[in-house]
Amino acid sequence: MYNLLKGKKGIIFGALDSNSIAWKVAERAHEEGAEFVLTNAPIAMRMGTINELAEKTGSQIIPADATSMEDLQNLVDKSQEILGGKLDFVLHSIGMSINVRKGKHYTDSNYDFTHKGFDVSALSFHKTMNVLYNSNAMNEWGSVVALTYMAAQRVFPDYNDMADNKAYLESIARSFGYFFGRDHKVRVNTISQSPTPTTAGSGVKGFEGFLAYAEKMSPLGNATALECADYTISLFSDLTKKVTLQNLFHDGGFSNMGVSDLVMDKFVDEE
Ligand SMILES: NC(=O)c1ccc[n+]([C@@H]2O[C@H](COP(=O)([O-])OP(=O)(O)OC[C@H]3O[C@@H](n4cnc5c(N)ncnc54)[C@H](O)[C@@H]3O)[C@@H](O)[C@H]2O)c1
Repeated sequence: MYNLLKGKKGIIFGALDSNSIAWKVAERAHEEGAEFVLTNAPIAMRMGTINELAEKTGSQIIPADATSMEDLQNLVDKSQEILGGKLDFVLHSIGMSINVRKGKHYTDSNYDFTHKGFDVSALSFHKTMNVLYNSNAMNEWGSVVALTYMAAQRVFPDYNDMADNKAYLESIARSFGYFFGRDHKVRVNTISQSPTPTTAGSGVKGFEGFLAYAEKMSPLGNATALECADYTISLFSDLTKKVTLQNLFHDGGFSNMGVSDLVMDKFVDEE
């Protein structure tokens, strides 16, 4: 390990179980010398195994529903008390669509579900940064990262309303990132990750096909959750101080492919 985050303090949202991308980020951040608070929705505390991660990384847990300004304010205030100062990094690793969960087709959305999913998956990023910015809770040269998916730019039919949520999330990174950079020298980016077998990922209809297709299309193959954690650590480190307002593809090259030999082979008749 490289001590890339030595002395840095942060908050990590979204570690549900050991498959979660946020879980791997917490493990890697710990290895790189960071101290942090773990947070998740109160209901996830009961479903997941976050206590195990807290023990392993010497972290405290503060439950927070990321759609609640009150919960977020409490989280940011308490985290600074626990860690003994302002924050250097924040990971937003939150996504949920009730339309996906309940099998509602995109062309027949339940708009109550759409609103809730939008609040959890996209607006929560704005709310989190609102609290961080207005509480002046970030150190200069701090870094905020959210996770996203390429359905924000291209059509993936079964990704449903999460595609729209991700497009909004990526826009928030740019819009809030401008003010955070100008006023506090804090950078804000999104990482657009390959399909990854996690609770949220596997909830998407046809996920296995999705995963296999992306694997065959990408010259380097799909990026794993651990590789995503490594990339996130680089964005929290001082090695990327001038990277901001970016949507950064971490996908083995998938996003710039038209077609690959492996995919073509499936459509070419044997001679
Ligand atoms: N798995 C993939 O294929 C993939 C690909 C690209 C991007 N992503 C993104 O990565 C992020 C993390 O997802 P993951 O794949 O690790 O799955 P995950 O299911 O492990 O994580 C999603 C997390 O969101 C949390 N969450 C849901 N509602 C919340 C709320 N109201 N308040 C606070 N937290 C809440 C869940 O408890 C869970 O911990 C998400 O933004 C997801 O969209 C995932």
